[in-house]
Amino acid sequence: MTSQNTFRAVVAGTGAYLPEKILTNKDLEKTLDTSDAWITERTGIRERRIAADDESASTMAAKAGKLALEAGGIGPEDVDLIIVCTSSPDVLFPSTACFVQNELQAFGSAAYDISAVCSGFVFGLSIAEQYLKNGRYKNILVIGSEVNSRIIDWTDRSTCILFGDGAGALLLKRVEQEKPLGILSTHIYSDGRLSDLISVPGGIGRTGINKQDVDDKKYFIKMSGNATFKVAVKRMTDVIREALEFNGLSVEEVGLLVPHQANQRIISAVAERLNYPMEKVFMNIHKYGNTSGASIPIGIDEAKRSGRIQPGDISVLGVVGAGLTWGSAVIKW
Ligand code: UT7
Repeated sequence: MTSQNTFRAVVAGTGAYLPEKILTNKDLEKTLDTSDAWITERTGIRERRIAADDESASTMAAKAGKLALEAGGIGPEDVDLIIVCTSSPDVLFPSTACFVQNELQAFGSAAYDISAVCSGFVFGLSIAEQYLKNGRYKNILVIGSEVNSRIIDWTDRSTCILFGDGAGALLLKRVEQEKPLGILSTHIYSDGRLSDLISVPGGIGRTGINKQDVDDKKYFIKMSGNATFKVAVKRMTDVIREALEFNGLSVEEVGLLVPHQANQRIISAVAERLNYPMEKVFMNIHKYGNTSGASIPIGIDEAKRSGRIQPGDISVLGVVGAGLTWGSAVIKW
């Protein structure tokens, strides 16, 4: 008889989609009291992608998801579940995942969104891990997709320089084998006491959409950057350390660290605290800025397609986002 504990959740395919339009720091200099030098030095960001008028979280998610299915060699009819991790959904409801399901014609699947902002993708992975390891599902698409450009106040230089748009997807597949493979662990956390650090404070269910909140720009991202920075370094370091200890892994035994791309200085500070050599740390923040829930799957897709992740490698993911939420995952390829 089949023993449940030999079910593994492996990454069968990856995909990413970045909008064509590039907005550089130099472009931002024209409309804001900022400079390319300040943005590059404080964040590592040089440019970011901006969705076209006819693009949204669902259209980008569907493109990334389609590529992940192609890479994994399965058709949309074989997908059991689509989890879309987004904090910039197409509409309040139905879920962005339902639009993606329709676009992919994956009509045999269940589809829903999860909301954990930048941490969304790692939270989504942790859900997929459970369904696959307990034998409930065979093929799950986990997609992070964000159209941050639509929830940014483009006159607020402390936030608008940071974010970009894009989508990334992983197709996770259940396989049965004795040896550990695929998602080895996920650790996820939330602390609602820190909900004011980063938020879109305008009320929808709380107050109803109202003109005052619109005038006060409350439907855009607000962030206490400096306080978030400090919390982010500590939580991301701790949760990655926890992941390594849980799996009995030393830094030497792990290949690529794929951290959430919020700020190059956060990533460097985390790497330093973990004694993680920077050549083993994935970074693409200079090209895309902070793509929130899409940042980690875009990074994994790029790392995989460029050969920086090879079969047999172990990668660790780490993230901190609004909520406050944070998490890590370890993947054996
Ligand atoms: O993905 C979710 C998690 N998000 C994050 O992790 C973001 C974390 N925070 C950060 O990345 C950084 O805090 C920022 C990049 C947002 C800001 O960097 P900072 O070094 O923390 O700067 P600061 O907020 O302490 O501001 C320093 C100065 C201020 O001027 P004064 O008060 O010293 O005169 C700001 O007004 O920099 C000014 N400033 C800018 N100057 C030029 C803020 N934004 C800009 C700008 N260009 N775009």
